[in-house]
Amino acid sequence: MIDTHCHLDFNNYDDDREDVIKETIEGGVHRMINIGIDEKTSINSLELSEKYDNIFAAIGYHPHSASEFNKQVQDKLERLAQHPKAIAIGEIGLDYYRNYSPREDQINAFRRQIRLAADLELPIVVHIREAMEESLKILKEEKAYERGGVLHCFPGDYGDSQRALDMNLLVAFGGTMTFKNARALKVAEKVPLKQIILETDAPFLTPVPFRGKRNSPLYVHYVYKKLAEIKEIDFAELEKKIDKNAVSLFNLA
Ligand code: NI
Repeated sequence: MIDTHCHLDFNNYDDDREDVIKETIEGGVHRMINIGIDEKTSINSLELSEKYDNIFAAIGYHPHSASEFNKQVQDKLERLAQHPKAIAIGEIGLDYYRNYSPREDQINAFRRQIRLAADLELPIVVHIREAMEESLKILKEEKAYERGGVLHCFPGDYGDSQRALDMNLLVAFGGTMTFKNARALKVAEKVPLKQIILETDAPFLTPVPFRGKRNSPLYVHYVYKKLAEIKEIDFAELEKKIDKNAVSLFNLA
């Protein structure tokens, strides 16, 4: 199993980070991608990746922090992304639900980071909330298909997923797929396996049966289990296919 999206550097884990990581690896999750949301967390992600063979890092500015993004920041990110364990640019994107940063700033940071990923030949990890149309438009204009990437915690419908597939973009499902009557579940039923990877977004979006508690990359197990159930295939077979998608997208050693 691979957790393609977690935030183990967040202070939610300050008391027991080592234990959580150890328990996760022992539980069969052999790769984790720790995702940056700004400069500090990108550096933290790299530090974790240096400490643990099983952890890789994504470098990027989340739309929430987009108002702080400028040329200087971009140059710093570019330097950080040269690290051998920096395997993606993210998370980047648009969040028109919270609007913590003005929309023009979000669009600017999104576009510049897609270009940065293209220059560095890295895939992108995209966060989209209440902004599917605009995001897909920008991804197309910026030729995201050349490097590929993933729409994380996929918030769209089946049609959106097919438009993403046309642009060489995978979709990631997480803990919300285990919720009752989850929209993500209906979408995941139809999306072809070759386009899917899985994630936790830990410490957030904890799957059933731990919903409401702090999430852990270990719980990606419940997401794999759910997907195997709805696709009606053997767990081991599903794991093999999904992990192959993640390894190939992120070029994981
Ligand atoms: Ni995240």
